Amino acid sequence: MNTELLKKTASEVVAKGKGIIAADESSGTCQKRFDSVGVECNEENRRLYRQTILSAPDLEKYVSGIILFDETIRQKNDAGERFPDALAARGILPGIKVDGGAKELALHEGEKVTEGLDGLRERLAEYVTFGAKFAKWRSVITIGANIPSEACIHANAHAMARYAALCQEAGIVPIVEPEVIIDGDHSIERCYEVTVAALKDTFNELKEQDVMLEGAILKASMVIAGKKAAAQSSPEQVGAETVKALLESVPKNLAGVVFLSGGQGDEQATANLNAMNLIGGTPWPLTFSYSRAIQNPVLKIWAQDTKGNVGKAQDALVFRSKMNSLASEGKYTAEMENERPY
Ligand code: 13P
Repeated sequence: MNTELLKKTASEVVAKGKGIIAADESSGTCQKRFDSVGVECNEENRRLYRQTILSAPDLEKYVSGIILFDETIRQKNDAGERFPDALAARGILPGIKVDGGAKELALHEGEKVTEGLDGLRERLAEYVTFGAKFAKWRSVITIGANIPSEACIHANAHAMARYAALCQEAGIVPIVEPEVIIDGDHSIERCYEVTVAALKDTFNELKEQDVMLEGAILKASMVIAGKKAAAQSSPEQVGAETVKALLESVPKNLAGVVFLSGGQGDEQATANLNAMNLIGGTPWPLTFSYSRAIQNPVLKIWAQDTKGNVGKAQDALVFRSKMNSLASEGKYTAEMENERPY
């Protein structure tokens, strides 16, 4: 294992004031997103949309890395450069989603396990040739009446640890993502309990597989009440509970923690990240790795005129990235939204 390379890449991913854009939606997810704005979801439109994101001017000021989907890492921009090469040329690290998606967990109704370990060593070797520096694997933990089960948490933790070990063997920094789903009417306390259980098991498994934590990153969900809960969580609550949960379950030597937005509102996700960084005192940087909370306005604007609105869509992308960059240092205020260019 090339420990120096892994540590260097991981520290670049979570560099001060920077975060990640997740642009790695699978073709199925892309279909849903494009359907919602009335754009046909074909390969060329996906390429054009991703090009809009990946070529946004000044993005490298706020964004350290972008997670790509398998199709995108192989595609080229209008200038004929492969997308990962074009990103690297402007100082943005190309990442790659490598999991095979969350599938029904056998004998456990309503729960999922993420697949994709078969052939992963070979796929990672190919992604290295395309320039991928880091990877992502997402697990899904659902809160419900009698779930999550230990079986679900453990099956996912084990798979993530095996994925992470394969990444490090290949010289790629693994991002492990045990996402506690925000849907439902559960309380913030219940989310706390489940998040801590999932994180503890994940780090036990990573240890067992000898994953080097200084060269690995956690993509966490925030500790927050379910979307349908009667009592919704304030940024102060989310900040305090999330930082507490991380301190209780994440080893100090991990390179960094990035967050998913999980269906939160765009500004809510920014305010919540900011609240965590106002508390501070964590041994790891806390930053963003958002898909929806950054791309929501971008997709809408682009969809209104896929040729004419590229610049406007990019302005929205860069603005949200900048707000989240400020939040990663606890420097965001709601008033800054008055400068919104959309
Ligand atoms: P959201 O920010 O839309 O939750 O997506 C993040 C992500 O990459 C999930 O794996």
